[in-house]
Amino acid sequence: CGIVGYIGKREIKRQLIEGLRELEYRGYDSAGIAVMQNGKIQSFKAVGKLSNLDEKTKNFETEGPGVGIGHTRWATHGKPTELNAHPHMGEYSYVVHNGIIENYREIKAMLEADGVTFLSQTDTEVIVHLFEKEIERHSDLFSAFKATIDQLDGAYAVLLITQKAPDTIFFARKGSPMIIGRNRQGEVFFASSDAPLIGEAEEVAYMEDGTIGYATPDLIHSEPDALQFVSLSGDKLTAQKGGYRFFMEKEIYEQYQVMGDTMIGRVLDDDIVFEELGKTFLEGISRIKLCACGTSYHAALTSSYLFERQAKMPVNVEIASEFRYKEPLLTSDTLFIVISQSGETADTLEALKMAKKAGLKTLAICNVDNSSIVRLADATILTRAGIEKGVASTKAFATQVMVLWMLSIFFAKKRATLDNHTVKEELRFMSYVPKVLQKALDVHEKCKRLSKRYLHGHGFFFIGRDIFFPLALEGALKLKEISYLHAEGYPAGEMKHGPIALADAELFTIALMPKTLLYEKTKSNVEELSARDSTILSISPEMFELADDFILTHPHKHPMLEFFEMMVVEQLLAMEISIRLGNDVDMPRNLAKSVTVE
Ligand code: G6P
Ligand code: GLU
Repeated sequence: CGIVGYIGKREIKRQLIEGLRELEYRGYDSAGIAVMQNGKIQSFKAVGKLSNLDEKTKNFETEGPGVGIGHTRWATHGKPTELNAHPHMGEYSYVVHNGIIENYREIKAMLEADGVTFLSQTDTEVIVHLFEKEIERHSDLFSAFKATIDQLDGAYAVLLITQKAPDTIFFARKGSPMIIGRNRQGEVFFASSDAPLIGEAEEVAYMEDGTIGYATPDLIHSEPDALQFVSLSGDKLTAQKGGYRFFMEKEIYEQYQVMGDTMIGRVLDDDIVFEELGKTFLEGISRIKLCACGTSYHAALTSSYLFERQAKMPVNVEIASEFRYKEPLLTSDTLFIVISQSGETADTLEALKMAKKAGLKTLAICNVDNSSIVRLADATILTRAGIEKGVASTKAFATQVMVLWMLSIFFAKKRATLDNHTVKEELRFMSYVPKVLQKALDVHEKCKRLSKRYLHGHGFFFIGRDIFFPLALEGALKLKEISYLHAEGYPAGEMKHGPIALADAELFTIALMPKTLLYEKTKSNVEELSARDSTILSISPEMFELADDFILTHPHKHPMLEFFEMMVVEQLLAMEISIRLGNDVDMPRNLAKSVTVE
């Protein structure tokens, strides 16, 4: 879900729609805008992709000064219909909102008892009616807005405009991201991330939770008075598709470059450094707990093998939404690591808050600087993958795993659990990663061809052992997300304890068979499946006579190198299957890039 706002003189409609385009990947059930000029508000909404809204507003002219708000929705309350799309209107005001108003039922009941009619099933609509009701009780609009926000429980980024204040946008943030930007021309911008503001705003402030205020062409007022403006640089081009069919494809192809960025200044010839972590960072720490959602959770799981093996630290990994409500026992010798591409995932953010509250030392591994998670954690390591737009995460995952591998060696060195020679070897292998990722792309054509065959069948099992088990989970997730085919990731050795009952010729097994780690063991498990007629696609540097199909990878001397190469194979395969099915690879149904609701 995404939110934009604009105050200024330039083609307001364009400003809003172009801004939404940058945010569309965050949610795309429906979209809408409301523009106020000369005291009059006009609003347009459309179900589905932004292009529908674009089409609908083709003849809508917005020359001259004014204000506008826009929204792209990822529905939480109420179906993705036009009526439920934002902006929501009262009698003379309009609101857009990201997040969830948890107590909307109570507020709605109260307003309905008072004679208000609701048009939508959303939680959001209560905000605008409540505001208009508060106006009757307050002498000025901002007090009415504050009184409104005061009554909301839950998470929100809210922008509101009203005919009673023709050049003003009211704003409030708690729990959902929002940024405000400005420039010398007196324009004011709002957005959920800085992407829409690049090239538009000269400076931006990342709002803290609890910020509430209003903006006009001459003034930005905020309470508490804490907007810290910093200059915004960057260029728009890096966020374009650049000749690829999909962002996902582009992001798969640029992995070898961003991996280089991730290592720069950190992986040296004979040392590994994280300037982000102070000298005493590991003091008093003897164990690690990792917490994340989705793909980031798979990166966490992968690292659990590495931290235990290399740094000899007990590790425990939790899905953030589970962690939050399990009443976890937290001990102060635990380093709490959260992993998040966006830095805004609500469950991960809340888990981080819990850990902080319990007094744990916290570390974020994150791709978005200044995001909520980064601002909250005691320390952050940025993954430097660049903007990731494909909803199915690829390069962000790659860089997360890379950072975690690096971190495991960094900790191992600090704790002297690896000797210098072994550390140096690991560093040498790390430096090969970009090359490995580049060469992995060789199999793209092969994946394209195989995709034809692997469309049919009643399900997929991705199987692997050790770190290749989380990679199997990730391969299955990639396929599910964009092809909508049923896929599961499983530990190869666990198949015999149940899932093998599903085996027949329409069950596809994608077997991750690295040569450097437990090859023979995995092979036996694949043989067990083959004996039960499952169709086998082996991904391995070695031919496997029982497989129905192969994707041959390059031979490597380190499991992590095999890991990264197979990761690319999984990504390409999922993408080609999705393309062949005619799905929208970058914006698969029902999903959103950053989920800022619980
Ligand atoms: C969403 C995305 C996933 C992502 C997950 C966690 O569900 O669709 O691709 O892995 O959120 O996101 P994060 O930004 O915290 O890594
Ligand atoms: N809860 C609101 C809705 O379902 C906002 C969702 C969003 O953040 O896009 O409409």
